[in-house]
Amino acid sequence: MSDSRITGLYRLPVAARIARLEEYGWLSSADAASLCGGHHILSPLAADRMIENVIGVFGLPFAAAPNFTVNGRDCIVPLVVEEPSIVAGLSAAAANARKHGGFDVRSETSLLLGQVHITDMKNAAGAVESIDEAKDALLALANGVHPRLAARGGGVRAIETHRFTLPDGRPLIAVHVLVDTCDAMGANLVNSICEAIAPEIEAVSGGKAALRILSNLADRSLYTARATFNVPESVRDAIITANDIALVDSYRAATHNKGIMNGVDALAIATGNDWRAVEAGAHAYAAAEGQYRALTKWFAGDDGALVGELTLPLKVGTVGGTLSNNIAAELGLALTGAHSAHELAELMVAVGLAQNFAALRALVTSGIQAGHMKLHARSVAASAGAPAELFDILVGRLVESGDIKDWKARELLAELTSRRSAGATSAGKIILLGEHGVVYGRHALAVPIPDAVSVSVSPSTRLSHDLPEEYVERILEELGVMDRGWRIDVVSELPIGKGLGSSAAIAVAMARAFNSELDLGLDDIRINSIAFASEQLAHGTPSGIDNTLSTFAKPMLFRNDGKLEFETIDIDEMPPLVIAWGDETGRTSEQVTDVRERRDRAPQHFDALFDKMDALARDGAERLRNGQYEELGLLMNLCQGLLNGIGVSTPALERMIALARASGAAGAKLTGAGGGGSIVALCPGKVSEVRTALARAGYHVLVPGETS
Ligand code: MEV
Repeated sequence: MSDSRITGLYRLPVAARIARLEEYGWLSSADAASLCGGHHILSPLAADRMIENVIGVFGLPFAAAPNFTVNGRDCIVPLVVEEPSIVAGLSAAAANARKHGGFDVRSETSLLLGQVHITDMKNAAGAVESIDEAKDALLALANGVHPRLAARGGGVRAIETHRFTLPDGRPLIAVHVLVDTCDAMGANLVNSICEAIAPEIEAVSGGKAALRILSNLADRSLYTARATFNVPESVRDAIITANDIALVDSYRAATHNKGIMNGVDALAIATGNDWRAVEAGAHAYAAAEGQYRALTKWFAGDDGALVGELTLPLKVGTVGGTLSNNIAAELGLALTGAHSAHELAELMVAVGLAQNFAALRALVTSGIQAGHMKLHARSVAASAGAPAELFDILVGRLVESGDIKDWKARELLAELTSRRSAGATSAGKIILLGEHGVVYGRHALAVPIPDAVSVSVSPSTRLSHDLPEEYVERILEELGVMDRGWRIDVVSELPIGKGLGSSAAIAVAMARAFNSELDLGLDDIRINSIAFASEQLAHGTPSGIDNTLSTFAKPMLFRNDGKLEFETIDIDEMPPLVIAWGDETGRTSEQVTDVRERRDRAPQHFDALFDKMDALARDGAERLRNGQYEELGLLMNLCQGLLNGIGVSTPALERMIALARASGAAGAKLTGAGGGGSIVALCPGKVSEVRTALARAGYHVLVPGETS
């Protein structure tokens, strides 16, 4: 069984999210490709066959909520919904419940109820008696309507009679037909049974069939979910009170139950089910005792933990209906991992309970608007056209401003963009050849990622930034500017911890920003040594390559035999490189230690490999100088073989490298310490092909020198 616990799904771009679900076994590769290519969307032609007067297909977001476990079974919840916070709330609630074993769901029967309403009989009591006497015959007749249903294990299980009086005083008999519809929701099936047996009921009762149709109050198919959640005591009590309010006040109950249905409907739509039917049943059931109330119960369990319970009438299907005509619904259903309509209903009621928990927790703590605002800000930032590296900053600024409007987003974006261009910049680093060998006194060849980081600083009442405290303190200390508040804004194209020199580049750009703000008169040599000091804090004993390359932003051949030496390589234009990374992060210090341990076991052989790396780096510097990219690519491939040999490559890196080479790269290898992190591909004439292939496969891609 696949694991539904997937952390950080929300942080990934869409393609990477799809790739992650595929990697975890929730999506088949065909479904993943269909989602990536947008082939899952209903065509206008298929839509035209579903309903009348079609003029197009209407889009809604299709999302996946991870972390659910229901009756011990892991599930991913597909959701089609336009309201922000629902998916985030569900995922967080499911992760919380999971710590206590997830959702426990119970049910008894699962029957759909059809009704034949009889009026105009002479004697109501006698008519009921006659219908009751004819039950066996009526059952046989009803079961004859769909003989194949019995073969599948379903069928008509019972016939009941109920008496009413109409507002004008006439008697009414409701004949209920209870049908086990197996994995189909069963609406058409039950309707046709009702229509088929109505004439016989008319004959037996002497009355007239006024209506012959199913009931959506599916209370012969009740599902009850229960789960325990971790919350502080005060929140637990506030949630219990919030639920109690919805048990006595129908106005509140309507909103409370609407929150439950936020999740239930979104799952019903995503799996091709009739959500109006599910809605109607839930609300009718909420009023079953004569007053409309909350569908949930919340209480403190024996150990004091918060326990929630939700009962819903649910008659859903995993076959029939629109399912077979709608690829997205089939895909949604596959994503749930449900093997039957019963398992889908179990998941649906669990989703309702999780959604209610998320809503109540937000309502009794920060209020519902905080989360909504953040998500709303994301969509406003996206429509204002914020580039990836400014996106999160813009979202934060929008929320801070309290004005989450398109005009505000554009105003802030213009300000951020001008700050970025006015800010001090620095370069990231790509080791083209020789990593690890350089630790043993051999040469390494590295090139910069120009202007990858930009930092702007402005005086403020307090120190505000999003960086580690001690890192900033060390730089400020080195610069001697500890005595006042500063706002430090960093815009970086470099991922953190992926071997591209992000921390050194931020330090260099920050030192430059203060240098120009305060007119400190620092030259590049001093900037470089300030960044080196911050690198010592981050990495212990850094080689100095990162800060040097970041400061001088030139291709360089390095060597460190006790002391860093470097030679710049003058070239007219940057080589055509593509950088890519996935989720795997390698820790430089661990990789260096591991290589040292392995080297100690076979020093002669390792030293021979380091000598080879040294020769590749020196030869590579010449090829770079002369623009011989095909040859340089070959050297990079050779170097990758050596890096694999010393044990710093990983299957994930190898997959990226293979894809880059297959898409036309002249050479591709890991860059940096390995064990995860990034790859670099040299792609003369093929930058676009390699970049597209890597991005399609869900990797993050950066093309040095290209403004994003
Ligand atoms: C909003 O779509 C749903 C809530 O109003 C539910 C509730 O109030 O419980 C937050």
